[in-house]
Amino acid sequence: MHKILLSNQEGNTTELIRDGNSFQLSKISSAIDLAANDAVAVELLPDLLSGDVFRVISIVREDLGKGMFHNEANLFNSRTSIKVEWNDNLFAAKIYVGQIVSPKFGYEATCVSGKISIQKLVAYVRPNAKVNLFNLIPHAWVKDRELVKRGAILMDQLSDAHRLLFNAIFWDHARFERFSRQPSSMIGHHSEQSGNFRHTVEVAEEMRKHCQTRSFTSINLGVLAAFLHDAGKADEYELNSKGGWYLTDRGKLLGHKVTIVEWIVAAVAKWDITLPENHYVGLLHIFTSAANAPEWLGIREPALHESFLLSLCDRLSGRDDLIKQTKSESGGFGRSHRHLKAPVFTLKG
Ligand SMILES: [Fe+2]
Repeated sequence: MHKILLSNQEGNTTELIRDGNSFQLSKISSAIDLAANDAVAVELLPDLLSGDVFRVISIVREDLGKGMFHNEANLFNSRTSIKVEWNDNLFAAKIYVGQIVSPKFGYEATCVSGKISIQKLVAYVRPNAKVNLFNLIPHAWVKDRELVKRGAILMDQLSDAHRLLFNAIFWDHARFERFSRQPSSMIGHHSEQSGNFRHTVEVAEEMRKHCQTRSFTSINLGVLAAFLHDAGKADEYELNSKGGWYLTDRGKLLGHKVTIVEWIVAAVAKWDITLPENHYVGLLHIFTSAANAPEWLGIREPALHESFLLSLCDRLSGRDDLIKQTKSESGGFGRSHRHLKAPVFTLKG
């Protein structure tokens, strides 16, 4: 076993461990910038990073003249952050911020001032089931990194077909950023920045637990439905000039349930999604059915048990958050809230 210490300008260090032909990074407490000038470490980086998928955080393209360009980019995934540089020409595929990419290394890698030289960045144009998008959420999108890890674990546990549908909907980086940053409501539960993301992870965790203990439910369908049930809110709220939120025209006219149905149908039509037909129909049923709707509306009664469980988990997460917002720290009655019929009374001990 061979260990190499990599450190960045902030003094954070991590260990690069080589054991036979395998490499791994350990002791990473947060994403760091590799500033390795250690020649051995540089030699190992292509093996360590090849096949790794990153999100482009920033890119600077300098015109060198005669149709040539020098590029420098910061790349992020939850394991590490790297700076890369490469030259290309006018006809090279354009790389942009937010894109999902993988570095392609040349014959010899060098690392100068923390920038690793590469041959080019290969962009992932098509949604890929093997990519866990939660591992590509930058710190600027969601500050609570434990929450991101919890979401990533759930996403890892989904089947490839179910993960592919989620990825196809959120391969658009701007939409995924809005999903990660938006609140779940304007003044109700999970109304803070990234509140919808927090609510989504909570509901998905609960759904997994409930589906796991019931042989007549599908864990994959249940968890995917939880991940998507409020996803349409990504386009329902926008920041106003006072730091609060306002409802977009889409939010007023359609609402998140119509939006997510639109996104699912569009993703299935555009990409080769391998979701079983009954899961596809089941997912649409979960988002279009409603209990006790007047018959003349043509809306179906919820028939899947996953619908019932999702409704339970959704309400539980929402109510838990309202209680956290309004409860009295010393016990007894808390504050009133327009979404609670009465102030909540909490006990101690
Ligand atoms: Fe919800």
